[in-house]
Amino acid sequence: MNLKELAAHAAAEFQKKYGRPPRWIVAAPGRVNLIGEHTDYNDGFVLPMAIERYTVIAADRLTKDTKQIQLRSTCEDKPVTIDLARPLKPFPKGAWANYPAGVIAGFLALGLNPGGFDALIHSNVPLGGGLSSSAALEVATASLLEIITGKNLDPVEKALLCQKAEHDYAGMPCGIMDQFISVMGRENHLLLLDCRSRKTELVPMTDATVAVLIINTNVKHELTGSEYPARRKQCETAAKILGVPSLRDATPEALELAKGRMDEVVFRRARHVISEIERTVHAAEGVRASNWPTVGQLMYASHASLRDDYEVSCKELDIVVDIAESIGLKGGMIGCRMTGGGFGGCTVALVKSDAVEAISKKIAADYKKKTGIEATIFVSRPAGGATVIEA
Ligand code: GLA
Repeated sequence: MNLKELAAHAAAEFQKKYGRPPRWIVAAPGRVNLIGEHTDYNDGFVLPMAIERYTVIAADRLTKDTKQIQLRSTCEDKPVTIDLARPLKPFPKGAWANYPAGVIAGFLALGLNPGGFDALIHSNVPLGGGLSSSAALEVATASLLEIITGKNLDPVEKALLCQKAEHDYAGMPCGIMDQFISVMGRENHLLLLDCRSRKTELVPMTDATVAVLIINTNVKHELTGSEYPARRKQCETAAKILGVPSLRDATPEALELAKGRMDEVVFRRARHVISEIERTVHAAEGVRASNWPTVGQLMYASHASLRDDYEVSCKELDIVVDIAESIGLKGGMIGCRMTGGGFGGCTVALVKSDAVEAISKKIAADYKKKTGIEATIFVSRPAGGATVIEA
């Protein structure tokens, strides 16, 4: 389904549930990160792109009661109600409504009260697949609230508000990558984001001979909850021992010198982050120069580092990357790595456009043979960020 069809579906579902057409429709994309994993909360660089998968919200103001917000999702029968007459607080952990609720709380904190409205959420970003379905929902909600309140936020402020929603309401201490790319994605461009200065640079990705292939392992090992904050802490510990504000400021040489003063695991975590920041900058240069073999090697190196040093991969992700390596450049495979937080979800691959079909077939077959699981594989061009479809 393209964005237009997705929006039409959301509008039809809104009509079905609420008995009238929606007044507003907004959308925000998921993302895939080409390289720069677990670097955002270390003030490093990331190189994501928005994907042609979106969360769409259709909504209308409430005429009767101006304090009740009703949220419905096409994934669930039961609606969620937020009563603006009462202080807002998080729903129980794991509830999807925490993402929109956290964003609504952020707007209220800015003195921007949307009043009551009805909303219908529909998404084709795979849920929990490491493609930032949560950021897409947060950013779509923020886009809707911008229209309702008539106040457009600065894009950086908007992304940070959504990140805070995820911290305070979903209890996930994420970095800034996912929300930034969902707000600022640009068609046919990757976004090189300096997570320290928050400066962004668009990197054109227009070479028609190269395609981005996303391979969903369709497994999710429920480790992210505890492992993600644990990784953040280990990085902070390493920075403290190195005497730097964050691992962005550390060099491989300084790390080597400090090896004896560091727990072995903390050392490896830091080694991943420091090397990954460097790889990300080089990969951006490689994309700019269409130096694909180099970009591919950096992707494989990133995966190995995430697997061995950062320990956030899993058997299924490793199997996909192994299959990719076995296909090799000759077979049209440029590079492949896990993408997102890890412990399941997706890998991202750069492939020669004319080999997309053969490679997809081969990965699907080999992955099924080795794991018994059906992978979901699709191509996406770099997409635009959040948009208003009807206002
Ligand atoms: C998750 C977080 C991001 C980032 C990645 C790992 O997607 O939300 O902020 O830390 O993991 O790169």
